[in-house]
Amino acid sequence: MTVSTATTPTTSSLSFSHLSFFQHKKTSFLCTKNSIVKRKCEHRGVHVKCMVLEKSSAAEAKKTKRQSVYKLQTLTSWLLKQEQDGIIDAELTIVLSSISMACKQIASLVQRVGISKLTGVHGAVNTHGEDQKKLDVVSNEVFSNCLRASGRTGIIASEEEDVPVAVEESYYGNYIVVFDPLDGSSNIDAAVSTGSIFGIYTPNDDCLLDLEDSTTLDTVEQRCIVNVCQPGNNLLAAGYCMYSSSVIFVLTLGNGVFSFTLDPMFGEFILTQENIQIPKAGNIYSFNEGNYQLWDDRLKKYIDHLKDPGPSGKPYSARYIGSLVGDFHRTLLYGGIYGYPRNKKSRNGKLRLLYECAPMSFIVEQAGGKGSDGQQRILDLQPVEIHQRVPLYIGSREEVEKLEKYLS
Ligand code: AHG
Ligand code: MN
Ligand code: MN
Repeated sequence: MTVSTATTPTTSSLSFSHLSFFQHKKTSFLCTKNSIVKRKCEHRGVHVKCMVLEKSSAAEAKKTKRQSVYKLQTLTSWLLKQEQDGIIDAELTIVLSSISMACKQIASLVQRVGISKLTGVHGAVNTHGEDQKKLDVVSNEVFSNCLRASGRTGIIASEEEDVPVAVEESYYGNYIVVFDPLDGSSNIDAAVSTGSIFGIYTPNDDCLLDLEDSTTLDTVEQRCIVNVCQPGNNLLAAGYCMYSSSVIFVLTLGNGVFSFTLDPMFGEFILTQENIQIPKAGNIYSFNEGNYQLWDDRLKKYIDHLKDPGPSGKPYSARYIGSLVGDFHRTLLYGGIYGYPRNKKSRNGKLRLLYECAPMSFIVEQAGGKGSDGQQRILDLQPVEIHQRVPLYIGSREEVEKLEKYLS
């Protein structure tokens, strides 16, 4: 039997990497772009002309090395691998999975915020005296529910709650999770980037909730606060999820920074960047310059210096979203510096040490960058209260060090 040209696809339309397998009556054919060798072969009792790839040894080697484009690493399989390698235990794997689930849910809420009538304020102010957005409240609930349902979290502390809460479900676990459920929420109604930030601390026997114990809840609360107030140096894992044109989940377990992109087609985070390294320097600065007049003179000098074109004729570029997650993510990938300084009105700046500054500093250090309050390393700061604010300067090592010199 001979294959007619009318039923045979032209080989030129096929890429090398795609072998197209198609059926013609009872006979199967392989087409490739490479030179074709015709040979006779027996197939189901009929003589057919088969087109086969002419194999050079180099092409063969390439073929054996080539990874299938359909082999994707999901966050779930990546976490299991970390567990197999002994980097995390099974409990932490479950906590991280439940956080990723919360982030997927929040991503979906963020995308449908206008449709679901979730824009606008909730009508209450949070513990920081800020207006809570409806989505702040919902996201906090989503995060808390996922962590409680994981059965592996002992204490949760949220930016949106007055005090850390001990998980009282009968299947509670040990890990302490601190989180900012929705960061940059002032951007929500305009559909601009937002995110969630989290940090996970090691189990601490002093704060395990013993349900048989006769201690009052107030005492338990006290113990939880003490246990949540750990320096960033004790962080076991930290990450964030950015809700933007892509939904990106960035995670460190203390052995590098990994990034996963949500594939909306099948609802899984897919590993897209391994061992992210922040550039050593970068020419982007990200500060809310509306506060310029309220800043310290030394900081003003630093900012003026960034704007000076100098001998190169090119000043730094300014980029500011007003969403720490978005501004940080860009800084991580492109380099530069993000800052939220103290000012005359806010003596400690605006950002919270536990939920924002420490997790981001852990991530940036794992990527080779630096997180500082202007004088010292953020991860060395011992929190004295759970909602403590600190100035934050974070990004490329050389840029943060330059700023520290200006402030010294
Ligand atoms: P949140 O929405 O969790 O309260 O955090 C907002 C933070 C941070 O995301 C952002 O970098 C900063 O506030 C923006 O503050 P300004 O509007 O003062 O610039
Ligand atoms: Mn925030
Ligand atoms: Mn928030």
